[in-house]
Amino acid sequence: MGDKIEIIIDERKVFAEPGETILHVARREGIFIPTLCHYPGTTNVGACRMCVVEVEGMRSLVAACAMPVSPGMRIKTDTKRVRDAQRIILELLWAAGDHNCLTCEKNGACELQDLIYRFGIEEPRFKITPPGYEKEETSVMIARDLNKCILCGRCVRACNEIQVNEVLDFSYRGSRAKVGPAFDTDYRSSECYFCGECVDACPVGAITFKPARFKGRPWEERKVKTTCTYCGVGCQMDLHVFDGKVFKVSGNAAYGEPNGGSLCIKGRFGLEFIHHPARLRVPLIRRKKGGDLEEATWEEALDFVAQRLREIKEKYGANSIAGLASARATNEENYIFQKFIRGVIGTNNVDHCARL
Ligand code: FES
Repeated sequence: MGDKIEIIIDERKVFAEPGETILHVARREGIFIPTLCHYPGTTNVGACRMCVVEVEGMRSLVAACAMPVSPGMRIKTDTKRVRDAQRIILELLWAAGDHNCLTCEKNGACELQDLIYRFGIEEPRFKITPPGYEKEETSVMIARDLNKCILCGRCVRACNEIQVNEVLDFSYRGSRAKVGPAFDTDYRSSECYFCGECVDACPVGAITFKPARFKGRPWEERKVKTTCTYCGVGCQMDLHVFDGKVFKVSGNAAYGEPNGGSLCIKGRFGLEFIHHPARLRVPLIRRKKGGDLEEATWEEALDFVAQRLREIKEKYGANSIAGLASARATNEENYIFQKFIRGVIGTNNVDHCARL
């Protein structure tokens, strides 16, 4: 097996690449290890301890997400000691927050809810004492309810390591610890770019998409994979559709390049145009000079444009025509457009709106 490392997980012999973590190997092998703070693409901080496992010869349980494998390692993921430790973490997290699933926007897609259900916890053995933070509603895009925050730090790492916006971090200490922009300001008063990466990263209902509030539930929605229309990069995204309407957009790391699951403010939040009543859905032509714009078919509109371009070219020459391409089109469409202007119209008068 070359440089591969042989280890034993739950009495099963498996091979790992040097540097791989226990969690990575276990997931590849289909072995369940619960996680909360682990967030692919960011540093393994081992903060929540949800992923603890037993490693033979080690006195304490170790965080599988942060522990690299080593030759001959014998790991147990499903012992009573492991499950008791994980269970108490879930109970403590539950007791330290205000996790009212009835109205939580994350209900049905909450990782804490899923794990509590999977572990069969009826209620925490500790008194529930939410911190009593005020909900933050200052932004029209992102809502924050730190009473649901489990301090996993995924939003902080997504902000700093994936988007490199460096807006979010931890502040205060101990039971007063919280995440947010510097000086404990709200999002609106901070340097936040509103890319929404923190919303995608949040495993619970602490940071949510405000425009999507009460618009659709995860079990009701249909996800439609599409390409962002805002620029030529071609970011891949999921449209969340309910009742025939797009109510949310999210990234999906599984789609890979070019964006690896990340989106910018426009792709993630700029979706009002889709169902806007003023949106143009058919071509408009001004048939009479000084007349109103009137609806036309695509065939009629294309014939009209072709005829007018031909007339102008014949009368004034190709250099009297210029083409301005759009950042809303794909790279391929922009390429075809410049080919058309150069090859068919016969002029180099072609530019792109991104340079304006
Ligand atoms: Fe490993 Fe949080 S998921 S410590």
